[in-house]
Amino acid sequence: MLKKRTKVLDLTFETTITEERICKEISRIAAEMNRDLADKNPIFLGILNGAFMFASDLFKQITFPCQITFLKLASYEGTQTSGTVKQLIGINQDLKDRTVVILEDIVDTGITLDTIIRQLSGYQPKEIMVATMLHKPDALQKEVKLDYVGFEIPNEFVLGYGLDYNGYARNLPEIYTLVKD
Ligand code: IMP
Repeated sequence: MLKKRTKVLDLTFETTITEERICKEISRIAAEMNRDLADKNPIFLGILNGAFMFASDLFKQITFPCQITFLKLASYEGTQTSGTVKQLIGINQDLKDRTVVILEDIVDTGITLDTIIRQLSGYQPKEIMVATMLHKPDALQKEVKLDYVGFEIPNEFVLGYGLDYNGYARNLPEIYTLVKD
């Protein structure tokens, strides 16, 4: 594969997953969901910002009745505790007894996903499933169950296809990896 290079702020990145391969994996995941979830009336929860592109491309290929909403993890300085607390915001649906499918851009250490699952459990859903576009198995620090994974990738910084570097490059249609000089 001829690798494309792009400079984002001070760093150089090169393509490691093409748009074509991304489309193929999303179609595979959608087909698996269409087979597994058709009678579950699930609600998809896209995690902002990074998962917006994955959620959009995947959702177009879902063929059964379902809902989607988007959530964000907001950091705030706790008044009772020291340090930063991450709170899930944007839930305005009743999740009780629902099949919830989290849509993530990437699971790296798994800490974010673990936080999300813990907070969602408080809404008493019937089950919580997870679909992630990317997964870095070597970086994982929390035990999390991933039901649908697009690509397992090495423990290197990536961007594009929704993922950013300091807010930039989310618009790139392929996945790029940091070039180490
Ligand atoms: P975790 O909590 O370490 O699993 O990280 C999850 C979040 O960190 C993702 O939702 C991304 O927003 C961000 N992240 C982790 N790895 C990368 C990367 O390689 N590139 C860009 N963002 C990343």
